[in-house]
Amino acid sequence: MSDHPSADLIARRHRTLAPSYQLFYDEPVQLVRGEGVWVWDDGGRRYLDAYNNVPSVGHAHPRIVAAIAEQTALINTHTRYLHPAVIELAERLGELLPGELSSCYFVCSGTEANDLAVQIARTITGHDGVVVTERSYHGNSELVGRLSTDSYPAEERPDWLAVVEPPNIYRGPFRAGEHDDLGARYAALVGDGLDGLSERGHAPAAMLIDTSWDSNGVLVAPDGYVGTAADLVRARGGLVIADEVQAGYCRLGRHFWGHTRYDVVPDIVTLGKPMGAGHPVAAVITTPEIAAAFAERRNYFNTFGGNPVSARVALTVLDIVEDEGLLDHATRMGSEFDAGLSGLADRHEIIGNVQGSGMFWGLDLVADRSTREPIAYADAKRLVTSLRHDGVLTGVTGRFSNVLKLRPPLPFGREHLDHLIEVLDRRLAAFELHGGDDSRALGAEW
Ligand SMILES: Cc1ncc(COP(=O)(O)O)c(C=O)c1O
Repeated sequence: MSDHPSADLIARRHRTLAPSYQLFYDEPVQLVRGEGVWVWDDGGRRYLDAYNNVPSVGHAHPRIVAAIAEQTALINTHTRYLHPAVIELAERLGELLPGELSSCYFVCSGTEANDLAVQIARTITGHDGVVVTERSYHGNSELVGRLSTDSYPAEERPDWLAVVEPPNIYRGPFRAGEHDDLGARYAALVGDGLDGLSERGHAPAAMLIDTSWDSNGVLVAPDGYVGTAADLVRARGGLVIADEVQAGYCRLGRHFWGHTRYDVVPDIVTLGKPMGAGHPVAAVITTPEIAAAFAERRNYFNTFGGNPVSARVALTVLDIVEDEGLLDHATRMGSEFDAGLSGLADRHEIIGNVQGSGMFWGLDLVADRSTREPIAYADAKRLVTSLRHDGVLTGVTGRFSNVLKLRPPLPFGREHLDHLIEVLDRRLAAFELHGGDDSRALGAEW
């Protein structure tokens, strides 16, 4: 790595950033500029970004740049002074959400949003149990870190946590083509998880669901699963929290939110990543009734959450999504992705399954199609690295870190997809499995 142009920066980074920080790629990329779905490194090389959802409306969108500059030049305070931007933002989010979901808290990260959501659920239910999936990721605080089963050893799981199988109908315990009633079968596992909680002396405060199941390999749940699981949790007095940090903002196509494609209206939703197109803004939204019950028992203030600059940026993201028709675009591109990736699967045995929707896809890569044995993490990493050398940014996810993750900025269009498919086609044709390390570091990629 010593002759890498960024060697000095990498060495300084190792000296100064805590070892918990990880870099993508053994030869890390130093990105210095972006525009739309393209980014450039410090040597002037251009990459197609097929991975990043945080710059949701495209890198360096001029309207986002202007919103930050204009509001910063006027005033930036906090929510204890009156400002119209944060109120307009709350109104617009409420209009986009179903049911009574209209009472907003603004925070700065997905972790903070989930932390507050679980605090609310615990406070108003009087229960402490939480249901999550195996290999979940919801954030990193003391509380939410425990809900991220992908980030720490299983033997350290607290008693109040119920960890259930995600609805993976390709490689989970119940599989498409082999079992019927898939939704009911996976929901029954949530019932088992709730039984386990109760045997350990806990009742559920909430089930936390990422409806893209990103860390599980980007899944689409079978019909009936989410609604039935939600009913089971509610029957025992718990609330349903939709973690929209990945799935929200048109990501899955057809709907603005991930949960709307399923048969459930959550009690609380949490937002993050795409909400500020790179600016740190996130939110928790619940019903007025739940918010009032929480306010009776707990104070809540967040210095940076909901400040006028963040609110203007978040409003501008909503405007861009509307003005540029990004929901319809994500829906249309979903069909294009499906066709393009399925075509690749016809040509390359290594693709065991194509899963996802809209602008969020996973290729479950297998060493053997008949056994569905996942390729080794080392091989998945080599593939992602080879794509980076071809100027395409992608990532890896899933329990076995064998799922190639494609999750580009929303303006990713047909011409970008054609380029991605062409590069993948070429690389997969020449790709040989070496095996090797199949245990990634905890939470290495998301
Ligand atoms: C589903 C989900 N929830 C929450 C988070 C945490 O968000 P943040 O990193 O902004 O704290 C993430 C981050 O990857 C996530 O994927």
